[in-house]
Amino acid sequence: MTLLISALLGYLLGSIPFGLVLTRLAGLGDIRKIGSGNIGATNVLRTGNKPLAAATLILDSGKGAIAALLALAWAGPEAAVFAAGGAMLGHSFPVWLGFKGGKGVATALGVLLAVSWPVGVIACATWLAMAFLFKISSLSALTALGLSPIFGWIFGGPLVAGLCLFIAVLVAIRHSANIKRLLKGEEPKISFGKKKA
Ligand code: G3P
Repeated sequence: MTLLISALLGYLLGSIPFGLVLTRLAGLGDIRKIGSGNIGATNVLRTGNKPLAAATLILDSGKGAIAALLALAWAGPEAAVFAAGGAMLGHSFPVWLGFKGGKGVATALGVLLAVSWPVGVIACATWLAMAFLFKISSLSALTALGLSPIFGWIFGGPLVAGLCLFIAVLVAIRHSANIKRLLKGEEPKISFGKKKA
């Protein structure tokens, strides 16, 4: 029951679509009709509003981290992992948006930092290194989170490795359109200018 409540708490926190809320509040319209249509920080950046993209990144990461930390304080590491998984599902499939949510990258980084900070730090560093080298957000995310089960196993053991594997699979599924574009060499690079596609 404790684990189920933790997962539900994680789901509810994770389902807050900060990218959509912030862009609406800023009068930028519906982020789902801009660029890739995703509600995440990368797509918010395509509006040209860098502070809003940074806020989306921080809040989407923060909701995952807070869900995991609350569950950890309440019921221990296993509950934290369930809350983390719930937050990932909430961000990806929010009930408020007809279960059509984001791709889970910022939320994944937040939950990993909270559940096992070395794994989170390595995932963030991998994302940054890949983004520096290739300037493609999706490729950076797929690499960072795809490698995370290995680091999860090393630094956190089977429970954290299991969470990392769940995250890696979920994020890969949510990036299926990006993967197709990557294979065709058509995935757009990270842009710091104002761009609509
Ligand atoms: O964080 C999401 C990113 O990996 C891809 O976003 O908007 O380029 O599909 P986007």
